[in-house]
Amino acid sequence: PRVAVVFGGRSSEHVISCATAGSVLAAIDREKYDVVPIGIAQDGRWVLDSGDPERLRISESGELPRVDGTGAGVSLARTAQATDLVVSEASSPPRTLGEVDVVFPLLHGPWGEDGTIQGMLEMAGVRYVGAGVLASAVSMDKAFMKVVLGEAGVPLMPSFAITDRAWRQDRAGCRERAAELGYPLFVKPARGGSSFGISKVHDASGLDDAVEEARRHDPKVLVEGFAADAREIECGVLGTVDGPPETSLPAEVRVGGDHEFYDFAAKYLPEESTSLDVPADLPDEVTATIRALAARVFDAVGCEGLARVDFFLLADGSLVVNELNTMPGFTPTSMFPRMWAATGMDYPALVERLIGLALA
Ligand code: DAL
Ligand code: MG
Repeated sequence: PRVAVVFGGRSSEHVISCATAGSVLAAIDREKYDVVPIGIAQDGRWVLDSGDPERLRISESGELPRVDGTGAGVSLARTAQATDLVVSEASSPPRTLGEVDVVFPLLHGPWGEDGTIQGMLEMAGVRYVGAGVLASAVSMDKAFMKVVLGEAGVPLMPSFAITDRAWRQDRAGCRERAAELGYPLFVKPARGGSSFGISKVHDASGLDDAVEEARRHDPKVLVEGFAADAREIECGVLGTVDGPPETSLPAEVRVGGDHEFYDFAAKYLPEESTSLDVPADLPDEVTATIRALAARVFDAVGCEGLARVDFFLLADGSLVVNELNTMPGFTPTSMFPRMWAATGMDYPALVERLIGLALA
């Protein structure tokens, strides 16, 4: 089968998507699959990419990989027979690369993890790895994610959204709601990822700057309560062909050094002081509760393929869901592949499983 691995993209998580793709491209079975690496440059151009895993990684010095948008352009086109990949060069008529059996949209954030590319692939009749349009869109928007999960009875941190209009027309009301939630609190872009644009705000004097920072990423902002001494636990979920989803052993993120939370540097940059306990050191019954809740979250949103569900284990022993990611990172420091490895599924087997699910 022919697999188009699509990565990069227009969101602020472009660089993480490139690093994710580098790891997946290195692990994919080339004997079994004809792999077509397609980069989406930050300006949205689709280009054929070498897909060289050596280039697609975060370097020792913390240099971030990007798609070079100057290569031959690519588009998906529906022909009479099938959906073809079409290469277009400025001076020549389009050339087709042939049919695509499945697309692996390794994109994080808006324009990729949010249902947009999924909708395009549905329209073109191409199979793809991961969640569909609605589950992707709901999971990308932290405010709507909470509406859906709250309705399903999933415990969540208290929060409220600040729309663009509310911030422009009723700033006093926004400040009042933040005060009601209580400080410290978190301010996040509603549709973001990899901790871009997130601030921990200690008192009311920091709110406006934090909202403006989040608004650089998304005009819609989420303000969320903070739980002191909470442990940060993650759990991987994989779909099955027609049974209930499977869950990985949970893992714990322990943020150290100067990081106030699991921010971008703590997540991805070399020599940071974050430690990841894979699996997490938890009593068996807590592990079981986390795994059951992760599967419930996956089903509540209607996910397919894969997801990573992130939790806070509060000081009183209760669990809340922080968020879910329908295309979690697959970089060498990412939790998702590491949790599956700890559960008995190594990286190449995980990639094979995901492509197999999309083709099933
Ligand atoms: N948004 C990043 C890629 C993650 O969830 O792993
Ligand atoms: Mg996320």
